[in-house]
Amino acid sequence: MRNIRQVSGDERLHTAFTLYPYAFDETPSANSAEELRGSLPFHEGNHTLIVEEAGRTLATAAAIPAHQNLRGNVTRTAAIAWVATHPGARRQGHSRRLMHQLHSDMLDRGRSLAVLYPFHPSFYEKLGYIGFPLNRRVEFPPEGLASLLDVALPGEVSWQGIREGFKIYREFQHRLLSERHGFMFTPDYRAVRVLEAADRWLATAVVDGEVVGLLTYRVDGYGGCLHADELLYSSALGRALLLQFLAQHAYQVSRVVITVAPDEFPETWATSLTVRTETETAFPTSPPLMGRLLSMDALRGVHCGPGRVEIELVEDQLLTGRYLLDGTDGTIDVATSRGAGEKATLTVAGLSGLAYGVLDPVDVVARGMGEVPEGAAVELRALLPRCTPHAFGKG
Ligand SMILES: CC(C)(COP(=O)(O)OP(=O)(O)OC[C@H]1O[C@@H](n2cnc3c(N)ncnc32)[C@H](O)[C@@H]1OP(=O)(O)O)[C@@H](O)C(=O)NCCC(=O)NCCS
Repeated sequence: MRNIRQVSGDERLHTAFTLYPYAFDETPSANSAEELRGSLPFHEGNHTLIVEEAGRTLATAAAIPAHQNLRGNVTRTAAIAWVATHPGARRQGHSRRLMHQLHSDMLDRGRSLAVLYPFHPSFYEKLGYIGFPLNRRVEFPPEGLASLLDVALPGEVSWQGIREGFKIYREFQHRLLSERHGFMFTPDYRAVRVLEAADRWLATAVVDGEVVGLLTYRVDGYGGCLHADELLYSSALGRALLLQFLAQHAYQVSRVVITVAPDEFPETWATSLTVRTETETAFPTSPPLMGRLLSMDALRGVHCGPGRVEIELVEDQLLTGRYLLDGTDGTIDVATSRGAGEKATLTVAGLSGLAYGVLDPVDVVARGMGEVPEGAAVELRALLPRCTPHAFGKG
């Protein structure tokens, strides 16, 4: 008999965790048992499910309770991870069943969105997920920003070890959660992983006592590379201060590598900056984040233009049905009534693409995710215009 059940605490070690090294790590590894035991606290609040047969774990999947900004609203989100099936039990539908169970468990716990990194995007698209734009990797010599040092900006940048600055780091991430569409915030028990290796500096840009930008980074040696993580800022001044800070590393390191949002334009940072901006999508090594609506509540109260449309959602375990999206008051109201007027038929991946702002109604049709007559497209465009999610703060 193959049961799905939840596991927690140390029980994870001899159930779900038995599948992790083979699925995700370089194997075999003599230290994997020890490393997994050490990682237990970082899974503390995860909702971990397993498929079990005669006491043996065949498959597992987990959800991390996170938050994400959807068009300005901070929304309770399930970050799905650690999906793995024993090699001898693959292609028997275990992951599919686990995903369905996770979705309904997360909905029961008040999570309205779900995100994940896909191994195979078309599998998750059928489960309602849509891909986001990938962040960019930017590489440049820091002397290319030297001209920025000629200007005195009102603010300063200081730096410290990530351990000392962890509180500031988390507070700023929490602030960006409420300001940036797509931004994610993971729970403390997971975010503290960054303190384990503590191999990061934290640069903080401050104006009038307020943090306006942050950068975690490490330097791999004299004349080497400054590896920065995500360029995080709350204002253009925050970005300018951090770029000045990077310029100060000219001739200490030969290169800076940094991650930026999809709509950041490094070629505009300074005149004559030699810079390479790139992104590569590959599975499973470099997948873009995917996300979906678990509940229509995620759209309630979202600021919008004046549209009104009836949508019929199809082929979904959770959301199949008819809804009226009404934005005539400036925020979206969701009702189940059958209203007259414009109507569109959508898969949940199609609706999620519109909700996250990554698809236009025409893209939804072109990608086979629904039927949207021209009148309904006009209404949907007013309600859910395109906008770029910043999939930062993954933790
Ligand atoms: C990926 C993995 C979890 C799939 O587990 P599984 O229990 O075999 O999955 P299922 O049997 O439920 O199949 C789910 C779907 O994925 C497809 N699929 C599964 N493995 C696949 C593969 N290697 N290549 C292409 N498609 C695959 C199946 O065809 C099925 O889709 P379909 O019903 O449309 O045909 C498993 O192969 C694994 O543990 N891989 C290593 C770790 C990993 O990649 N985890 C995923 C992180 S998101």
